[in-house]
Amino acid sequence: MYQCQICSHKIEPFISFGRMPIANGFLMPDQFSQEYFYNLVVGFCPECKMVQLLEFVDREKMFHEQYAFFSSTSSFMARHFALFAEKVMQDFLGEVRDPFVVEIGSNDGILLENFARQNIRHLGIEPSANVAEAAIKKGVKSICAFFDEEIARQVASESGQADAILAANVMCHIPYLHSVAAGIKILLKPGGVFIFEDPYLGDIVEKTAYDQIYDEHAFYFSLQSIHNLFSQYDLEIIHAEPLNVHGGSMRYYISHKGAKEPSPFVIKQIEKERMLGLHQYKIYELFRKSVEKSRDQLNQLLLSLKKENRRVVGYAATSKSTTVTNYCGITTDILEYISDTTPIKQGKCSPGAHIPVRPYEEFKANYPDYALLFGWNHAEEIMAKEKVFRNRGGKWIVYVPKVQIIE
Ligand code: SAH
Ligand code: TMP
Ligand code: ZN
Repeated sequence: MYQCQICSHKIEPFISFGRMPIANGFLMPDQFSQEYFYNLVVGFCPECKMVQLLEFVDREKMFHEQYAFFSSTSSFMARHFALFAEKVMQDFLGEVRDPFVVEIGSNDGILLENFARQNIRHLGIEPSANVAEAAIKKGVKSICAFFDEEIARQVASESGQADAILAANVMCHIPYLHSVAAGIKILLKPGGVFIFEDPYLGDIVEKTAYDQIYDEHAFYFSLQSIHNLFSQYDLEIIHAEPLNVHGGSMRYYISHKGAKEPSPFVIKQIEKERMLGLHQYKIYELFRKSVEKSRDQLNQLLLSLKKENRRVVGYAATSKSTTVTNYCGITTDILEYISDTTPIKQGKCSPGAHIPVRPYEEFKANYPDYALLFGWNHAEEIMAKEKVFRNRGGKWIVYVPKVQIIE
């Protein structure tokens, strides 16, 4: 029996992807024999409504001095975070003297650099040393640590409480969320705000975006599950905002209970989740069926292209692609290589499926017939960049929200 990380109730498993490697564990052939695998299974807690992994990978296996994901590889995301910073400054820091901003999971400084540029007191808490180093080089103050209650206490005593605590695409990475929530309670000023964003459960289910499921994503949040967690710490959601990034995300604004007036959107969205069925097990069974169908359709399509001797290349070695390649059984039989702009991934092989990752220049120099878009969450940016590929007859294969060829 597996217990909910949040409320200890028994969780109901609803989909198993089988044995999976570390999503960002790109590796050299001489490391294949020691590759680490775990069981990727997701369950739903009928009590607090949290969707979560049953088995977690040790954090040190995922976040370390060779972490492969650098946030700043996407210029679209850089713009997204610049706008976010502007909003935080305007809406929450305007009236504050000498404000202090803390970010959890600050990576290479993509968000905090906007505060650093304005000489706003800030601190990034980032456990992966190589990306933290990149942030420091940009002038972003960062410490190399995992955020939890203890670090929160330490930062609060050394630098004082924060006016704003920010976190993007990291809250859902942390299995020990009770320690995180307790830390927020300690580190946040009485009138301060904690704002975080993560891929939204509603979008994942609606779009059959099963590739959002991998080791780093321990949780799949809804407003209801977030409310159930934070209310235990006398913290409340005062606002939420759907975002058009990473395939559909939600931004949550949290403050000390009673400090600010909650917006009507919060109640409306929780009701919408209830109507959609996100608070019941049944929808997750339907989700599993959709995922299986999506896998079969993608396999059929790739097989038919192979029979026609088409050249197919993967586009963007995202962490999500690890779930797709391993779950669908996509290998070098079908995919020549995966093109990616991140230097640390290039020259290595993809986790589990062992498909070579090659520099983007190779893609540009010799366009394939088809590109399987693993970076579908960056589709707008990528499609705009790849007009020549399409003009020369290149076709995209996408699988979210449904398997299709885009001519
Ligand atoms: N915020 C960035 C990075 C997201 S990737 C963005 O949105 O692009 C997740 C980051 O969180 C990684 O850099 C990882 O090292 C970091 N991380 C993982 N667990 C953490 C924890 N407990 N505390 C702080 N950061 C953590
Ligand atoms: P993400 O989906 O987890 O944000 O990962 C993005 C990956 O996609 C990262 O490895 C960089 C790669 N990428 C490209 O190769 N080309 C691009 O144009 C973009 C936007 C991303
Ligand atoms: Zn629970």
